[in-house]
Amino acid sequence: MMIVAEKLTKKFGDFTAVDAIDLSIEKGKIVGLLGPNGAGKSTTISMISTLYKPTSGRLFFEGNDIIKSPKWIKPHLGYVPQELALYDSLSGYENLKYFGGLYGLSGTALKKRVDEVSRVIGIDERLKDRVSEYSGGMKRRINIGVALLHEPKLIIMDEPTVGIDPQSRNHILETVKSLGEQGITVIYTSHYMEEVEAICQDVWIMDHGKMIANGTQEALIEQAGIHTAIRMKFDSQIKDRLDPLRKLNHAMAVDLISDDELVVLVNGGGNTHKEVIKSVMELNYDLTSFDITRPNLEQVFLKLTGRGLRD
Ligand SMILES: Nc1ncnc2c1ncn2[C@@H]1O[C@H](COP(=O)(O)OP(=O)(O)OP(=O)(O)O)[C@@H](O)[C@H]1O
Ligand SMILES: [Mg+2]
Repeated sequence: MMIVAEKLTKKFGDFTAVDAIDLSIEKGKIVGLLGPNGAGKSTTISMISTLYKPTSGRLFFEGNDIIKSPKWIKPHLGYVPQELALYDSLSGYENLKYFGGLYGLSGTALKKRVDEVSRVIGIDERLKDRVSEYSGGMKRRINIGVALLHEPKLIIMDEPTVGIDPQSRNHILETVKSLGEQGITVIYTSHYMEEVEAICQDVWIMDHGKMIANGTQEALIEQAGIHTAIRMKFDSQIKDRLDPLRKLNHAMAVDLISDDELVVLVNGGGNTHKEVIKSVMELNYDLTSFDITRPNLEQVFLKLTGRGLRD
């Protein structure tokens, strides 16, 4: 494991922002840290980044205690904070050079690395313009570039796509995927479950300072017992013809919504919902429309907490 946290806790006065969480992050994975506003995501990654000292608990990077000695993680960590940290009056290029200098790069090595990172974040033509003239998305991309300069093994990004244009958002998601392909470990915090679903292999879910679930998306959906729901509408009334539907393979439950409409809950992942629809067609029932709701992390969160992620 690259990161292991044991009973990690952070209090601000009497308030417990992170409450005795256990966490383990495998090398080379893109790991999502998902939770609503105030869940404790930023506080958790601030402790991993050694910006905050935990109130109690233990925290290791590659087996070394980083509460005692932050030096074990510092050279290997690229941290992209939730709040932007750039010099507005300098260009993107000058910012990269400046921060590269702070990491100890200089001369041709610095220039080479700035050029490489510029290609990764992809804002070539505008790189010589002042940061104050950039869109939020471009600033965010420079901030990511800064975190990549020293070729860290672990990148932590704190909600990097909040409030930016779709083009930058897609670019950032693609960048994260390609970092993962290069074997770099990424911790990606977000309260957008669609992003976490699209790029993360492992997911940790926080709420009110506690870690409430973790696993692959499939495992989380299975643990929470969430099913695919197929809503079907028929040409005429269906209530006297439910028995054959209840006997279909994979149909867990059939609930009538109105005379001519019902919901079938389907178990199993993959394509089992397609088999159910096919079987209904084969019954020669007068199906006029249907709509499929696949299980997702939003529903996992709802099931675990009784609330939506974005309440
Ligand atoms: N420096 C601080 N002093 C006091 N309370 C704090 C401090 N930092 C965070 N908190 C509180 O701790 C809780 C967790 O905050 P944190 O920023 O870790 O949440 P988050 O999951 O990152 O939320 P968001 O999605 O809004 O960024 C919140 O209730 C917040 O108000
Ligand atoms: Mg936060």
